[in-house]
Amino acid sequence: ETSERTERIEAALEELGDDVVILGHNYQRQEIVEHADFIGDSYQLSKEAANADAEYVIFGGVTFMAESADIITDDDQTVILPSMEASCPMAGMAEALQVDAAWAEITAATPHETIIPITYMNSYADLKAFCASQGGLVCTSSNAHKAFEYAFEKGDKVLFLPDKHLGENTAHRLGMEDAIAEWDPWDPEGKDAAAVAESDIILWDGYCQVHERFTTDHIEQVRDSNPDAQVIVHPECRREVVEAADKAGSTAEICRTVEEADPGDTWAIGTEIHLTEHLQRWHPDVNVLPLCGDACMDCNAMRQIDPNYLTWVLEELVAGRERNVIDVAPEEKELAGLALERMLEI
Ligand code: 13P
Ligand code: SF4
Repeated sequence: ETSERTERIEAALEELGDDVVILGHNYQRQEIVEHADFIGDSYQLSKEAANADAEYVIFGGVTFMAESADIITDDDQTVILPSMEASCPMAGMAEALQVDAAWAEITAATPHETIIPITYMNSYADLKAFCASQGGLVCTSSNAHKAFEYAFEKGDKVLFLPDKHLGENTAHRLGMEDAIAEWDPWDPEGKDAAAVAESDIILWDGYCQVHERFTTDHIEQVRDSNPDAQVIVHPECRREVVEAADKAGSTAEICRTVEEADPGDTWAIGTEIHLTEHLQRWHPDVNVLPLCGDACMDCNAMRQIDPNYLTWVLEELVAGRERNVIDVAPEEKELAGLALERMLEI
């Protein structure tokens, strides 16, 4: 069955030729990445989308990544997401309407200072547009520290959304860990105007439900059973996990670390399980271990991109029908594009 499906995907791709490019995020399963023209982290994929010439960009990833690809590609290019269910829960934790309301409260708490909002790539286009409208920008896990530096050149404070852990880890990287206030829009007591007034960095209370589950116990366990193991984790992990690890970095940085390891080295990987599996396959001479067992850390948003859906969207294109088109509203496109451009420039 699998080989029949692979044959169908290959036949459709042959038929479509240069009209199609497939981008695959590092967290996609093997049956998707094996068909990808380019595999990478969300920053690399946004650059690939910007450089793509193909009429159709098929995105193996989640909605916010496909939206960013639509914003960044030309108007005559079409972005297709094989499953419309592939939505990152963290992106849903900062809805533009809710942020609008919070913005009024946060700016009122600190009226004489300029706050620059930065949104993590893992957010929807309307929030990216909002950030641009207030002088802010987008960042990914590979350039969050540069986005903070950019923002502090322009203003006095940063509001970082939606991932509080990436925000906290970035504040530490910049030596600003004592300047943090948290803003929890769901809890009346989590909105502390006095703390906002006193702090330089305000963190929205969002998190990734995959990375938040890694604990320092996982690190201890892996080190107990593999005394030579080094540990690398994604900066969406909790602060204490990042602190206990040997290294932290974006999925591209995790790939680079394993690529540059010596044969026989052991690396335990604290991120989504499919990337760990790819690294095991790509670097058989390195001992690559999942930080937490085999099964517990998979992203159900990424998992929605099923190879059967990939087959379907490709065969529909061959038949002249565009399915699952991701089309960002024109009124958001321009400003969200500005937020992305500012990121690509830093
Ligand atoms: P990267 O930017 O490191 O690829 O991470 C994307 C993501 O969704 C992490 O959870
Ligand atoms: Fe969203 Fe986390 Fe999945 Fe990344 S791993 S897409 S942040 S839920």
